[in-house]
Amino acid sequence: MYRIKTSDHLQGSVTMSGSKNATLPILAACILVRGKVVLHNVPKIGDVMTFLSIIETLGGIYDFNGNTLALDTSNLDIVHINADMIKKIRASILLLSPILHWFGSIEIPFPWGCNLGKRPIDAHLSGLSRIGYTYTQSEKSIAISGKALDWDIELDAGFWVTSTENLIVANVLRKWCSTIHLSAIEPHVMNLIDFLRAAGANIKIRYNHTIVIEGVDSLKNEFDFEIISDYIESGTFMIIGALLSEEYLDIHHARIDDLYAYMDKMRRAGVRIDVIGEDSVRVYRAQELCKVDIQTNIFPWFPTDLQSPFAVLLTQAEGVSKIHEIMFEGRLNFLVELDKMRGHTAILNPHEALIFGKTPLRGALVTSWDLRAGVAMVIAGLLAKWETLVTNIEYIERGYENFVKKLQSLGALIEVVKE
Ligand code: EPU
Repeated sequence: MYRIKTSDHLQGSVTMSGSKNATLPILAACILVRGKVVLHNVPKIGDVMTFLSIIETLGGIYDFNGNTLALDTSNLDIVHINADMIKKIRASILLLSPILHWFGSIEIPFPWGCNLGKRPIDAHLSGLSRIGYTYTQSEKSIAISGKALDWDIELDAGFWVTSTENLIVANVLRKWCSTIHLSAIEPHVMNLIDFLRAAGANIKIRYNHTIVIEGVDSLKNEFDFEIISDYIESGTFMIIGALLSEEYLDIHHARIDDLYAYMDKMRRAGVRIDVIGEDSVRVYRAQELCKVDIQTNIFPWFPTDLQSPFAVLLTQAEGVSKIHEIMFEGRLNFLVELDKMRGHTAILNPHEALIFGKTPLRGALVTSWDLRAGVAMVIAGLLAKWETLVTNIEYIERGYENFVKKLQSLGALIEVVKE
């Protein structure tokens, strides 16, 4: 667990790591490429290491040098799929398309991941069955098999991120035209598309969330590619700058263009954010914060993954702020942890909550409900009086690279201790 003491005089600058949610689908796409790929700016985090271990059990070989990953997927087989590892991460759903393409069948346990709610996978399954595969589900696993159809098809990704990614990968080497309507266009989806284009895929994106893929015969099997930096990590450090800096915090590789709606909400709450160079921002400590209402939504609106850190900011804002979390019915539950720290919140229903501010937070023993909620508790702990202990930190380490070290480098009093 983390032991945290009040640290509200942070100073310095911090550089964002590679994006988790771009790296995971790109690792899955490396299975489709079946070659030697060198990926730069790969974050060394729990989810990436688990995904690499899964690829290793399929016969992949990798070598990490700093944040450069050399991955060789030339010799794969699916004899040894490791069910326990697959269960650990929700992103293992991304294995479906590349494995079906090469091996024609796969059976995997339902992916779990964070504790965010129901998280159905109907868009993945109905898309794959439209492509020509058939599936059966038991309580614990899904088995899918078959062969992709030999004609043009139209699909619907429901605006969901990983279903869009699965449907893209499923069609790149299918030698016909595939039109994916209602596609997610989050930055990590775009990074996957750029990766596949670098491999030779023919993918077009229309203005109306439609992705059109003309299948190609083969992909390049030796190339380099750069993962984008993590806009969710950047949004997280913006909150840290606003609440915990002595005067300001500089954030580099901040993905400013991806955070317009989010930064707009921060500014409306009273946070000053200056752009100080190419993709760098200076976030000033907020003197007076006022209430704002937020609604999470698909890109480029306010990201659901930044809702929990933003909730901590709202505990310090005068007035009653409303959070409308449209995506996950479990993602507001962590607010009970903020209340343990003398926050004042009210969960109205699975998708709406109120935050009453301003409330001085006090240290407590709290837990991480999921990756982003865990980070929110760390921010609350740094802000709170006295000492805070945050348990279940594995969630945080799954998604934020060197989070503790980055905070310590800014002067934060946080350490890892045994539970
Ligand atoms: N949904 C459906 N049907 C589907 C798929 C999704 O109804 O077939 C609904 C789910 O009920 C849920 C919502 O869509 O309410 C989000 O779906 P899901 O949990 O499947 O999201 P995802 O595409 O797997 C990605 C990110 C999440 C991020 C969401 C939303 C990756 C690996 N994960 O998940 O990231 O919250 O999109 O933007 O890209 C995180 O990084 O902390 C995280 C949870």
